[in-house]
Amino acid sequence: MLTPQKHLFSLPDNLHYLNCAYMSPTPKRVAEAGVAGIARKELPSQIHSEDFFTDSNRARELFARLVNLGDPQRIAIIPAVSYGMAVVARNTRFEQGQNIVVTQNQFPSNVYAWREAARRYGVTLRTVKAPDSLPRGEEWNARVIEAIDRNTIIVASAPVHWTDGTRFDLEAIGARARDCDAAFIVDGTQAVGAMPFDLEKVKPDALICAAYKWLLGPYSIGVAYFGPRYDDGVPLEDDTFKRVGSENFREVMNYQDRYRPGAVRYDSGERANFILTPMLIAALEQVLRWDLDEVQTYCRSITTELFTEVASVGFGFEDEAWRGAHLFGLHPPSHIDIEAVSARLRERSVFVSLRGAAIRVSPHLYNDTADVTALVEVLRAESRVGSR
Ligand SMILES: Cc1ncc(COP(=O)(O)O)c(C=O)c1O
Repeated sequence: MLTPQKHLFSLPDNLHYLNCAYMSPTPKRVAEAGVAGIARKELPSQIHSEDFFTDSNRARELFARLVNLGDPQRIAIIPAVSYGMAVVARNTRFEQGQNIVVTQNQFPSNVYAWREAARRYGVTLRTVKAPDSLPRGEEWNARVIEAIDRNTIIVASAPVHWTDGTRFDLEAIGARARDCDAAFIVDGTQAVGAMPFDLEKVKPDALICAAYKWLLGPYSIGVAYFGPRYDDGVPLEDDTFKRVGSENFREVMNYQDRYRPGAVRYDSGERANFILTPMLIAALEQVLRWDLDEVQTYCRSITTELFTEVASVGFGFEDEAWRGAHLFGLHPPSHIDIEAVSARLRERSVFVSLRGAAIRVSPHLYNDTADVTALVEVLRAESRVGSR
């Protein structure tokens, strides 16, 4: 089993950071790559024309390996998940009477593009509600599958729900989407890097990930897979590097009609970011050193006691089979003042997030049982206060 990896990070000992779903701490190696990136442009004569391609291609290669994809050119370098969703929306022919399937309380970057399509083209946004009581993962999944029909143009989902880690069975949802010829769009931000993701099995039409959480990368850069459905699409913006032949800087004014193959056309402008891209590379190299099944096993091992403890004071949570080990929600009993809990947690330097009705806990390999114990102590103490 994996051992704690705190030595790779700069987290102080008295900080109980259980909040990777908010943002990962930057690993030391990744920070060093960023500093080297800044230094590099102090001497721009050291940046050569081929460098505008090599680092982004290396990042594509690493991410492709992480998600079991043979062709790295199907990976685009994007600035944010919203950008990847906008690419999909831009390249979808919506027609009145169609519907788009999302889950309730999905992350806004994977909803606003669909709301706009609904407003503009008369498409129905079908939001699949979560069942009222816990556990609800299995039933919620069944409802998603039921909601997809022959008029579905897009199914937009995620491996785990960002607020409380409810798992979605993407192989089953994807199979139903394919049967109905709907595009299957996956926001992998809260899962890829923390749990295995196999493109060959899930077969999404697009997989879109911000890098600053479980991929351990910096903010403002992400990666997206676009499948054959988008091969002849148009990017959101046009620049030199999306076009064939742009390696030859001297001739780039010989404007080209042809894009580069695969998903490179969906890269954002100035994608050869000499600070963020080396950081992304170092981050992906780190993630690839770990077996992601073992990341799940490790997170489960340090939180086993927590579930027993919080159940005894009335917290609800999803069944183990239907929640992430790295991301889960604790639903407090009604007598507990969740804002007061949040304040106490901060006093004890325990960092988690309040998302919807849940206290969202998201451990990683830099955590250990001491972090979880600090969390449990506050939750138990607050449940005694609340029940007085
Ligand atoms: C599921 C999910 N997707 C995407 C994002 C980030 O989206 P964007 O890169 O568009 O800001 C987050 C951030 O919390 C998230 O939880």
